[in-house]
Amino acid sequence: MQQVLALLGSPRKLGNSELIAKEISRHIPESHRLLLIRLPQMEIRPCRACYTCLFDTCPQQDDFLGILEALIESDALILVAPTYLLSANASVKKLVDRGLSFYPYFEQLWGKPAVAVAVAGIPGMEGFTKLCLESAVRLMGGQLKASEVVYGALPGEVFMNHENRQVAKTLARALFGPSPDLQEIPWRCPACGGDTFRFLSPDQVRCMTCSSPGKAQISEGRISFAVHPPEDHFFLTLEGARRHLDWLRGMKQRFLQKKKELKAICLDYRKEGKWLQGRMNEENRRVTGAESIKEDSP
Ligand SMILES: Cc1cc2nc3c(=O)[nH]c(=O)nc-3n(C[C@H](O)[C@H](O)[C@H](O)COP(=O)(O)O)c2cc1C
Repeated sequence: MQQVLALLGSPRKLGNSELIAKEISRHIPESHRLLLIRLPQMEIRPCRACYTCLFDTCPQQDDFLGILEALIESDALILVAPTYLLSANASVKKLVDRGLSFYPYFEQLWGKPAVAVAVAGIPGMEGFTKLCLESAVRLMGGQLKASEVVYGALPGEVFMNHENRQVAKTLARALFGPSPDLQEIPWRCPACGGDTFRFLSPDQVRCMTCSSPGKAQISEGRISFAVHPPEDHFFLTLEGARRHLDWLRGMKQRFLQKKKELKAICLDYRKEGKWLQGRMNEENRRVTGAESIKEDSP
């Protein structure tokens, strides 16, 4: 029996994200067990940029490694998150920020099938939530089979629109189905299937999902993208990801070589400005009436 992991970026119990994930699960044709993780409930501490995870396990004692284990042990992933202020709920980014820890496990994670759903309350106001989720899947080594945006604000509202049940069904079938033909849709990135591009000039673009550079071209009023991923692109092949891990590990050596020079640059900025601290302090109430941050003591 397959194991499907649903990572939910919503704090709401029985909210739209949870319902969508469960509706997808109901329609997955393959026999499977559904495991769910509500990311905002998990303790995922900020990455400390120590790079220990590239050589050993992350030293932070929180829920991250448990989530990573669940991901490794699962056969497929459903990632669903609500839009918060035009982006995915921050719990998704908190997970992804710890993502250097994924690299040493890419042999187990690579190519895991995944579908992603961005939920937004206001039609058209999903911002870059879908992009965030697609990137998250890629950064976890997953193979994105399909992704969608659905609208609904109140808990459950997403299924007041019957079409969204159909969306869930389509995603369910896609999860263990064949890989999408990336060349089929000309207005998507032919390297990764992404549909968000940054224009670097009137015709030069970069895919915001896989970072491949390319050209936008218009023929007979239709736009298409000719993208040329770098040869050892670390998002597109496991071999590229392995090479990127080696490159990242090599940073330690490069740092040691240039340590003196780097230190001199940094220390030049040591004394500027006054730091404010996030410590809450009753005496310090100012504008909002809330306990405000205070100045760092020298
Ligand atoms: C703090 C906050 C910010 C939100 N920002 C947006 C937004 O920028 N665009 C949007 O369309 N919906 C926004 N919403 C609405 C949610 O995306 C919507 O209610 C969604 O259905 C919540 O999914 P859930 O039930 O899975 O939590 C916001 C909701 C909250 C609580």
